[in-house]
Amino acid sequence: GLPSRVTVYEVGPRDGLQNEKSTVPTQVKAEFIRRLIDAGLETVETTSFVHPKWVPQLADASELLADLDEAGRSPLRPVLVPNERGLDRAMEAEVEAVAIFGSATETFAQKNLGRSREESVEMFAPVVKRAQDAGMWVRAYVSMCFGDPWEGPVPVDRVADACAELMDLGCDQLSVGDTIGTGTPGHVEALLAALEKRGVGVDRVGVHFHDTYGQALSNTLTALRAGVGVVDASTGGLGGCPYAKSATGNLATEDLVWMLNGAGVETGLDLDKLVATSVWMAEQLGKPSASRVVKALSGA
Ligand code: HMG
Ligand code: MG
Repeated sequence: GLPSRVTVYEVGPRDGLQNEKSTVPTQVKAEFIRRLIDAGLETVETTSFVHPKWVPQLADASELLADLDEAGRSPLRPVLVPNERGLDRAMEAEVEAVAIFGSATETFAQKNLGRSREESVEMFAPVVKRAQDAGMWVRAYVSMCFGDPWEGPVPVDRVADACAELMDLGCDQLSVGDTIGTGTPGHVEALLAALEKRGVGVDRVGVHFHDTYGQALSNTLTALRAGVGVVDASTGGLGGCPYAKSATGNLATEDLVWMLNGAGVETGLDLDKLVATSVWMAEQLGKPSASRVVKALSGA
């Protein structure tokens, strides 16, 4: 069966906008986030405190949080931080939740973080410790959980080990990333089972699917049936990773909500407001929303 309620973890302002060619003005980002919250989204990842040269699209993280004010200060408004410098900046902005982001593969650790997997875990350890000591909520992303564009298939046990290693640092929640969207439902079941064996139960797991191969909704349904209650999604299906070859947008929030509404699963979201936000954001970006539901409902 399906859970009666699902938490939609919105990543559009971060995963979505980090991948846009054009840099979106800070005020537009702030309005996007406010509109998402108004549509009922409680958990919204707002931005990243990464190196501004690596991701110039999100170089305005401090200004954005100043603009968001109270709306950015909540355990439900996480930001990405790779290292202690990122955590310092996040703390200055008074955020209350952070997400570290590791990799299941060596190649992607090098491309995304400029260091080996082992070195990146050493980089994350003090970040998690200090964040926890400060009473912050901490999420751990792991990328390339269902395949890597350079290394190909990644064995499920190796992925589960990489995930458990970050959770053992003391993180509150894991997000398993299908960065390039190649995963399929059987693979999702196998990974969740391997995680359970490592002591990471579905109650601490979120799923993060990119829809490159059109598998995101099927994979999500599979995860929900296995007991997962947190689903990452991006309004308008925005997204991708600048350091991952062939990564396209995330599962669109609107498509997820359509499916969950149909199944009678509670999300607390107002689909009409979400669609209006998606259409508005598409205008800002000068390109149509990638969400099928938005296309159908807005006649775009
Ligand atoms: P580095 O160059 O190795 O950093 O970058 P460093 O520690 O050697 O420091 C070099 C300089 O950078 C220093 O300045 C630092 O202060 C500065 P200097 O003393 O030379 O003047 N610096 C910083 N400045 C601002 N903010 C910081 C910061 N850190 C160092 N946080 C680093 C290492 C990890 C920072 C870099 O590789 C980086 O920023 N990577 C981020 C890549 C990224 O954002 N990728 C996208 C997000 S991941 C994703 O999208 C996947 C996900 O969606 C899940 C999925 O789909 O799979 C989450
Ligand atoms: Mg992603």
